[in-house]
Amino acid sequence: MATIPMKVMPEDLSQVPSGSERIPEPGILVIFGASGDLTKRKLLPALFHLRQANLLPSRFAIVGVARRPLGDEFAADMREGIIEFGGGDASDPKLDEFVKHISYYALNFDDPASYGGLQKELDRIAAEKNIGGNRLFYLATAPEFFAGIIENLGAQGMAQMDEGGAKAAVVIEKPFGHDLESARELNHQVNAVFHESQVFRIDHYLGKETVQNLLVFRFANGIFEPVWNRNFIDNVQITVAETLGVEGRGPFYEKAGALRDVVQNHMMELLALVAVEPPASFEAESVRREKLKVWQAIPPIPILNTVRGQYGPGIVNSQHVIGYRDEERVNPESGTETFAAMRLEIENWRWAGVPFYLRAGKRMKKRATEISIQFKQPPMLIFNRLQQDGPCKGIEPNLLTIRIQPDEGIALRFGTKVPTTPQMSVCPVTMDFDYEAAFGKSTANGYERLLLDAMLGDQTLFSHRDGVETNWALYTPILEAWAAKKPEVFPNYFAGTWGPECAEHLLERSGHAWRNDLGRKA
Ligand code: BG6
Repeated sequence: MATIPMKVMPEDLSQVPSGSERIPEPGILVIFGASGDLTKRKLLPALFHLRQANLLPSRFAIVGVARRPLGDEFAADMREGIIEFGGGDASDPKLDEFVKHISYYALNFDDPASYGGLQKELDRIAAEKNIGGNRLFYLATAPEFFAGIIENLGAQGMAQMDEGGAKAAVVIEKPFGHDLESARELNHQVNAVFHESQVFRIDHYLGKETVQNLLVFRFANGIFEPVWNRNFIDNVQITVAETLGVEGRGPFYEKAGALRDVVQNHMMELLALVAVEPPASFEAESVRREKLKVWQAIPPIPILNTVRGQYGPGIVNSQHVIGYRDEERVNPESGTETFAAMRLEIENWRWAGVPFYLRAGKRMKKRATEISIQFKQPPMLIFNRLQQDGPCKGIEPNLLTIRIQPDEGIALRFGTKVPTTPQMSVCPVTMDFDYEAAFGKSTANGYERLLLDAMLGDQTLFSHRDGVETNWALYTPILEAWAAKKPEVFPNYFAGTWGPECAEHLLERSGHAWRNDLGRKA
């Protein structure tokens, strides 16, 4: 399969060969919920980056759909978004040319009668621009509208692939359900209208370069695979730490919480890519099948191996911040977790006995999404007894850290002899690969790759219904147990810390500790 250029940036324009096989066919992208933040901050900037890299077809239209009666101001607002969030240049004539492809259609999602009007509008645009019948529907609305929109698209005949070869497909944003039962029901509703090959369940983590690089790191290099197993690896830690709070999304977050918002989807994708067996190819079916096997090999997580937390007031980045319960439109006695941590295992030949520790939190000390692979110590530490008088205490195990964001990169820690000391003193040093230093800064936000793949019909980086349900099956019992017993001591961590103390105990029980020196070292 061909790949898109490393950086989707204006300056890469010249490097993209024209007539690339990665250019989708002409079509209309219809974004439902287009007046929301996602469209302005992520989707339109990403589409503009694709246009800059010549990866969009010339006959193409973007139609924003939402309830508000907007007109041309929608396109103007998207232009602002591209400049503010996508590094667009206000004086760039390409930006004005791109904005001409954007229009808006006001529609009440629940009203079946108004879908006829939408269809007519799409046909009108298609005829005017000679686009043909390809349609990609992107559902960026609140999740309660997903099922209704899909049903209405189906009833209007807009979900069918027509005999002339025109294609219809749907991209569905997260959250995909809120537990196993609701996810199953939604899958059922989706598949009643769209064939699974037309469905793209998005997890924006899979659009991140560093997340995709996990597969390259493991399977395009020969030296890591032989040690990538229970014989050499002691434990794996995955952290998604954010310094942000809930950013005005109180009502959404009250229903979601950290486990649903981040762990069940983004973190499980990261875990799968760390743990997956080499797929036979980089085709969607092959990759998705192997990932599913990883998730299916995780036994139920005992509730004792889980921890939840909620932030109180504190100091983040030298600023005083309020506690979760004081956030806008949050219940002052809320039991919603803003931090979740757990220990789980993967019962297969590669991983049996290796603990995987996951933690995600809002208002943590530092923003960092990282994976740490800690290797086992050598069987005999011949230098250990010589350490007493040396500059470093004890010999630390090898550690491979994969920085997903920010400061994307990969670092390997190993022990080295301290020069000029008379005895054999060993201290840890780090070999560091930094993405930005190697490839330059990218303005891409991850949606470029996912939007392009959806337009091309490539499902490799999207979730399959089986995967979504398997992950919900793992986490629903925990969510139910948490819902049944209100946390006694919430809030239980100060904003600007590494989470509640009980999260430390979770690892101490197995003689481990969270790695908190996250981020680039140099
Ligand atoms: C989203 C969550 O899916 O991911 C947010 O809803 C979270 O709460 C975000 O902040 C994190 O994404 P990123 O790309 O900033 O790590």
